[in-house]
Order: sequence, then structure tokens, then C-alpha cells
Amino acid sequence: MNDLNQSTLDHPQVVGQRTPRIDGEFKLTGRAGYTGELSVEGMLYGYPVAATIAHGTLERLDLDEALAMPGVVDIFHHANFPRLHRSPNSMGHGDQVSEVRLPFEDERIYYHGQYVALVVAESFAQARAAAQRVVARYRQETGAISSLLDGAHDSHTEGELLEDAGTTRGDPEAAFDRAAVKVDAVYHIAAESHLQMEMHATLAEWRDGGSRLVVHESSQGVFYQRNAMARIFDLAQENIEVISHYIGSGFGNKLFMWPHAVAAAGAARELGRPLKLVLPRAQDMTGGGNRPASRQRLRLGADRDGRLSAVIHDSTTETSLVDRYVDACGSATPSFYACDNLAVSQRILALNHGTPCPMRAPGEVSGIFALETAMDELAVALQMDPVELRLRNYAHEDPESGLPWSSKQLDKCLHSAAERFGWAQRDPGIGAMRDGDEIIGYGMAACTWFAGRQPCQARVELRADGTLFAACGTQDIGTGTYTIVAQTVAELTGVAVADIEVKLGETSLPTGPLSGGSMATATTLPAVAAAVRDALSALKEVATGHGGVFAGVDADSLTVAEGALSDGERSYRFAEVLEAMRLSSVNGQGSSAPGEEKKQYSFRSFGAHFVEMRVDPGISRVRVSRVVSSMDIGRAINPPTARNQVEGGIVMGIGMGLFEKLDYDPRDARLINANVADYIVPVHADIPEIDVELLDYPDFKFNEFGARGVGEIGLTGIAPAISNALYHATGKRYRDLPVTIEALLADHASA
Ligand code: MOS
Repeated sequence: MNDLNQSTLDHPQVVGQRTPRIDGEFKLTGRAGYTGELSVEGMLYGYPVAATIAHGTLERLDLDEALAMPGVVDIFHHANFPRLHRSPNSMGHGDQVSEVRLPFEDERIYYHGQYVALVVAESFAQARAAAQRVVARYRQETGAISSLLDGAHDSHTEGELLEDAGTTRGDPEAAFDRAAVKVDAVYHIAAESHLQMEMHATLAEWRDGGSRLVVHESSQGVFYQRNAMARIFDLAQENIEVISHYIGSGFGNKLFMWPHAVAAAGAARELGRPLKLVLPRAQDMTGGGNRPASRQRLRLGADRDGRLSAVIHDSTTETSLVDRYVDACGSATPSFYACDNLAVSQRILALNHGTPCPMRAPGEVSGIFALETAMDELAVALQMDPVELRLRNYAHEDPESGLPWSSKQLDKCLHSAAERFGWAQRDPGIGAMRDGDEIIGYGMAACTWFAGRQPCQARVELRADGTLFAACGTQDIGTGTYTIVAQTVAELTGVAVADIEVKLGETSLPTGPLSGGSMATATTLPAVAAAVRDALSALKEVATGHGGVFAGVDADSLTVAEGALSDGERSYRFAEVLEAMRLSSVNGQGSSAPGEEKKQYSFRSFGAHFVEMRVDPGISRVRVSRVVSSMDIGRAINPPTARNQVEGGIVMGIGMGLFEKLDYDPRDARLINANVADYIVPVHADIPEIDVELLDYPDFKFNEFGARGVGEIGLTGIAPAISNALYHATGKRYRDLPVTIEALLADHASA
């Protein structure tokens, strides 16, 4: 029986239980309708022409041949694309974009892959063929900045120091100078592609004589795109609808709108016809966002017992010449370990790339690589077990804010994962563990990701046909949001998940959060729950009112169970309650927002990864042979999909550690490997048995569901665990990612 208070969720029946994805059948049968698959009457196709230089000016476009090709309707470029406004690009006002420069704004070329024209034709094939016949003449300039890591930018004084992105406590420099044991090391991480399965895609349609814009977009944030488009096209928000029902993942590059969507909507308006634009993979990789390369210097000082006395974390990350993206590498560092003297600084260096953007655990995943590798280096210097070093510096409250943690079980993660991994059998000697030709290395790292919430609204309907309907304008980016919303409604009503319809991903629905920052679950479910309760109150009023099935009964005395209202003696199904009053449905609205709890507690998820590496020195081969992880994420609403997020993060972390790297030509800053053949990601054969444990400590101080979110944390900590295991196997400290076969061969040759 549900009595609809917090204790319900202490002993939930559906929440926290394995629940098959309610959208699974649609996806498996191809009926899910991803943006790139949609078509509408009279639709045109757009195909961008992308700059083949990274630095210079577009001097001329020869369009005659392309315009004469079959099916070509028009070609847009700087001289004929409509003049639009920029979005204010404000996170606070919800109109943030990924790259604030508008398409075709001027003829300056800032990066390889920048759109110089948009070909529009009757079919996709015609648009693509014509785009290949557009001849662009450039004046290429020398001096393109190709990469933070190209050897020309070694100084830690280069780039713009962001004063408000840093933090200092105590006197870290003096404490470091005095420290008995020190680590001072520099770490480099290559730029990476999100390589999400579904490319960026837009279908733009102007209705009502061009006064109303409807956009389908593969988006992690439909409201942000709507608000930005309202600014860019100078329309009222009510006259724009952005829809994103299914998303083939995003990992952050679909949080905020990119220029291709503006190009599509602008061209559709000019031509008075709907237009679809799906970026080809190469353009998606050059101009659709990436994780920027980073260079980090970590200084750790400790006493001989391993207690940290100084942590100094200085980072520089890349941005573009047309926007300012900050990948805040040091943002987890102040809260990670107990240490009185700490400094974090952040610089950005603008170069000739498309604008970088958040990529799964943005900033922190890079920062934790540096911090957790440095901690391993400190453990070696102290001759201390790395798990023990982490426990010795355990932060029992948030050392940055001084607030208590809402719930922190990192110690249990460390112990449990170590136990399951068999860490106690580790021989700490370098290369001491062997199996035939292979050297076995054991490495570990702790990991973390912040827990946040956004404001959210939701609507729920109880219908006379016995079904329930729940709606929220957040998105399901493949993580299982549809299903956990249905679970929430099922939990609070006792109606079967199969009888609950969920609608997400439309700006016509109540305002929902970004599907990002691992915030969607903790944000959305409390609003849905509030809407369910509101709808049940409405139903009880109907039931107890004149002519109702419980006429005259006190509404507060009614209880809810298994889709029915009961007064203890009689029970009526929701549908019967509605039928009796000839109602088709009752509605409930709900909202939720972060509140006072933020002043009382610090909220973070934590975890631990243990990795076994096998190194065959004869052929310079390394592979990850085991991963054992424990995660403290609060409650997992749907354990299989939650575990799946951590497993996916681990796979991505193996890519970060060993394979993934965007290669920019140092001569002219062109991205060389903008395709899935040359950009190397792990395949099944690279992925070992992954053992993920989700600890079950619901965080009720964060929200009534106890969930902190799980989309990102699994990626953090994997790359350092790999690097630390490689050190254990080889005695060589790998501080640059990815640790490629080339790097291993070079070490082998010089050894
Ligand atoms: Mo995530 S980088 O907030 O999609």
C-alpha cells in the first residue's frame, strides 16, 4: 500500500527494481523515429560545405556548376544567408549555445570544418553531390594554432588565466616547499571526439506563413535550443517548438545548439519549405564539438605518513577563436582529499579548432586523471599502498565548503572493489607479477562526479481508460529516462508500468532539465512525483464530491494502491472513479527545484576502479584484462540501466586511456582523422569482463528518491587506473593520454 509520503520511497516496489525499457520495443523495431529518419511533406535536404583550411579567408565561391546540378534548389553562403542575431549565450537565461558565432557570419575562416555554404536540394544524394562540386577559393594564412599539445605551447604561462575559475585555501606554495615528500608532474590529454552514434541532425519547418518554427533536433536540451532560436530569429518563445523524442546519445555535444541548426532553419525560412540537415561524420567531428586537449601540472606535498599538506593543480585547456569554452579540469580537486593548503588554476588557449564543448564528466574526468595518477606517484614515493594513501587523506566533510556530505561511501567503494578484485594478492614490485609472456599490472583510482539538480515541471493525467500519462520536457538520450519516469508513476499509483504513457523531449511540455551533468534523474523524478500527488488529490476530490464513489468521505482518509482508491472497506479503480463522474481524466501539475539542502550539505557521488593490465613486452602489446568497480551513486532507480551507464563510461575510459585522440596537422591545424576508420575507439575485443557494483545508499538529503545520477561518474578514474596499472607492470609512468602502441614502441626502443 502506498501512503504517498517519503516512507513510501524508503521501501519502494518499482523504483529500484529491474524494469525493461518502455521504449525498447520502439528502438528494436525501428519505430523510434530519430531526427535523421524523419520526413515531412515537401521536405528539402541541406548539406553543408565545410572549410578545408583552418586559418585564412574565404575569397570566392564558384557555385555555377553546383547550382546547375539536378535537384539543386539553392546554395546559401555569406552573401545571401539572412542576417540574424546572436544568442546572448547565457546559461542562466537558458539560451546557451555551443558556438555563439552564427553560420556564414563573415568570410573569415577560424577552423577546418567551418561551414562556408549550405547546398539545398530535393534529395540528400543531390545535395551531397552538389556540395562536392562547390569550389571554394581561400587565402590561407600561416600561423594557425593546431593544438595545445603541438610542442609550440609548452609554457604554463600561456593562454588566458581565468581569475574566477580558480580557488585557493591556506598557503599551498609554502606548504609544498616545506613538504617532506613531493610529486611535481605534468600531464597531457589529447582532444577527443564524442563519436556519439547518431550525428547532429535538424529538421526545420516554418508554419503559419513563416511565423512559427518547429524544429526536430537530436538534442540534450530542447528548451535551451528553443530559447536560443527565439533570440537568433527574433521570435517569441511561444512561436518556436523544439522536439527531440529519441537521441542516439550525445555525451555533451548535444547539450547546446550548434550553427548547423541555425543554417537549416534559416534556409528553410528563405525557401518556404521544410529542410532536413544531417551532418556527415567528418563535419560532426570537426565542427560539432569535442573534448579539448588539456595540459595539467599537479604538485602534491605530503608528510612521511602520507598526509597531504599541499595540492596545487594548474590546468590549461583549449578553446576556439569564435567562442570561449572552459573545460574546468580542477573542479573536483578541492573536494577530493582532505588538505588545508590547496590551489586550483585554469587557463584557456584559443586555437584554430571548432569550439570544444562538454564531454561526459567534462573537466573533472581530465582533472581526475592528473590527480589520481599523481596520487599513485605519491604512493610510490612513500612506498605506501595506494588504497591506504587514499583512506589516509579521506575527506569526511567537503574540505572546500566545510559542509558535511549528504552521503559519502567512498571508503566502502574502495574496500568492496579491492576485495572483489583481489587487490590483497598484489605484489607491489614493478613487473613482479607474470603470466607466461605477459606482465600483469594492477592499478586503481578513486573517482567522483558532482550531484546537481535544476528546476523542473511535470504533468500527469489519470485517464478513464485506466492508463496514466506523464509528461516532462526533459529528454531521454538513451539512458532510460522514459522508463524511470514510468517507474515513478507506477510506484506512487500502483498502476503497471505497461499502462503508463510517457512523453518527453518537447518544448510544448512542462519545462524540463538538460539531459546532462548527470542531473536529469534527480531533477525530473521529484517533479513527476509532485504531479502524481497533485493528480491523485484531484481524483480524491472527484471521488469524495457530490455524486462521487466516495461521496461524503474525508478525502484525506482515502489511500492509494494498485491503481485504486480505498477507504479501507471499499475500493474503486481510478477509471471507475472517473467514469462515475463522466470525466475523461484528471490532471496534476508538479514542480521541483533545488533548495535549502544546498546550504546544508555537499553532494557528490564517489567510486573506485580497479584495473588489471596485461603487457606483452615482446610485441609491445597492452590490454585491459579486468575492471572491477564500486559506485556510490545514491539509489539506482533502474539498476540495469544505471549499471549500463557505468559500464559505458568504463568503455569510454579505456578509449581515453589507450586509443582516442583527435590528430591535428601541426602545419595547418587541419583535423586529420575526422572519420571512424582513423579515430580509434575500443572494440569488443578490447573490452574485458567488467564487474560493476552499485552500492545502495539512497541519498534522501538530495531528493526523496535518493538518486544522485549516474551518467558520468563511470568514466572518471578509469584512465588513471590504467596508467597506474601500466606503471606497476613496467615501471614507466605514462602521463600522456592516450597511451598508444606508438608510445609503447618508443619506450621499448629506448629501453
Ligand atoms: Mo554531459 S557532458 O553533461 O552530456
